[in-house]
Amino acid sequence: MFGSKTQSIQERAQNVMPLGVNSNFRYWGEGITPYVEKAKGSYLWDVDGKKYIDYRLAFGPVILGHSYPEVDSKVIEEIQRGVLFAMTGELEVAVAEMITEMAPAVEMVRLACSGTEATMHAIRVARAYTGRDIILKFEGNYHGMHDHALWSTYSPVEAYGNRRSPIPVPASSGIPKSMREFIITLPFNDFEGFERVMRSYGEQIATVITEPCQGNCAAINPRDGFLQLIRKKTEEYGCVFILDEVKTGFRIANGGAQEYYGIKPDMATYAKALGNGYPVAAFGGKKEIMSIIGHGVAQGGTYTNNKPGVAGAYATLSLLKSKPILKTIEKRGQRLMDGLKDIFDENDIPVAMTGYPAMFSFSIGKTSVTNQREWQESDREMYLHLVEKAIAKGVMPDHDAREPWFLCYEHSDADIDETLNVYAEIVKEVKK
Ligand SMILES: Cc1ncc(COP(=O)(O)O)c(C=O)c1O
Repeated sequence: MFGSKTQSIQERAQNVMPLGVNSNFRYWGEGITPYVEKAKGSYLWDVDGKKYIDYRLAFGPVILGHSYPEVDSKVIEEIQRGVLFAMTGELEVAVAEMITEMAPAVEMVRLACSGTEATMHAIRVARAYTGRDIILKFEGNYHGMHDHALWSTYSPVEAYGNRRSPIPVPASSGIPKSMREFIITLPFNDFEGFERVMRSYGEQIATVITEPCQGNCAAINPRDGFLQLIRKKTEEYGCVFILDEVKTGFRIANGGAQEYYGIKPDMATYAKALGNGYPVAAFGGKKEIMSIIGHGVAQGGTYTNNKPGVAGAYATLSLLKSKPILKTIEKRGQRLMDGLKDIFDENDIPVAMTGYPAMFSFSIGKTSVTNQREWQESDREMYLHLVEKAIAKGVMPDHDAREPWFLCYEHSDADIDETLNVYAEIVKEVKK
């Protein structure tokens, strides 16, 4: 799929890095793993010099465009005055103010460096606040690499047991077996199952954590009323509702899914689009809950206010606030979603479109998908076949069908046209 330099770098990399990458998700397989040279705007070039329209956008952080000048110049200006101090600076206070202004449910916030760190801290705070240990999460949702929530994320769904009594499946060796005691898993969008589990265990559950849509499983949307049911039941049983907006935050609306769905969780987590690619994350929520931090509740980190991350967030949020950036992305993304749907329709191939214009996916062979179990029934072989053909023609969605397509401000109408032309051609070929 890629050229000779890619192959030789993969060989070198595999000598010194497990699988030749620094994150398992970046390994696509022997001889088919991309290695990147550079990226600018909506484009990316591999080490063999081939150019792609990039719909991966680093798994979602790049909301404006790669190397966006106004963000990069702010970062450069700031890092020339020191990168890290173990003291608080005014810029991070301004970032915290902007997050609390933009995110409807966030009254107080702490910064972090990655989504993993943000959800790990939020879960600890929720446990400390409630004095309870159990986490309820949904199958197919991913909340980062820590042991607390790395359960039933991307295993084959056959391992999950019956939907009425799901088996939590650790996504890795090395997670202590005893942690299973602290996790309950359920299919996403299962109203009846959720109500039943809350009736049985609600008073032992510290937190119900969910992505608003399944950002790690084809961006499957919440069914009408599902997030509202979580809000209602968590209130009833005194559990902390954590909305993991690591993928949706500052992407589907300036106020993320909270604004989009008009829902107020107790806590929310952010990373990705917050910094247009610079290493910054945040978790926050109600003052009453966040205020316990520092009063017997630990949170910290040497790099939590790293200047590139903080300056990246400052510049990104300032731009999102001052220009209709997400509206522009929405318009172009909608055209791409509609165009792709038309192509499948014209070829008589059933397809379920999921997600939002800024972050969407599609499941081939299905007309609707509401959870990971249903998604696994889609034609993932055809999806992958199409991705490989698209990449050969310079259009790059992720190789993994669970990962949504992401759009940024710099994706142009011409990029959308080119992508639709490529898909019109390859869908016809694959159908033959
Ligand atoms: C919803 C969600 N939460 C948490 C994380 C973890 O974020 P990070 O990779 O920055 O640790 C991710 C990463 O994809 C995510 O999609």
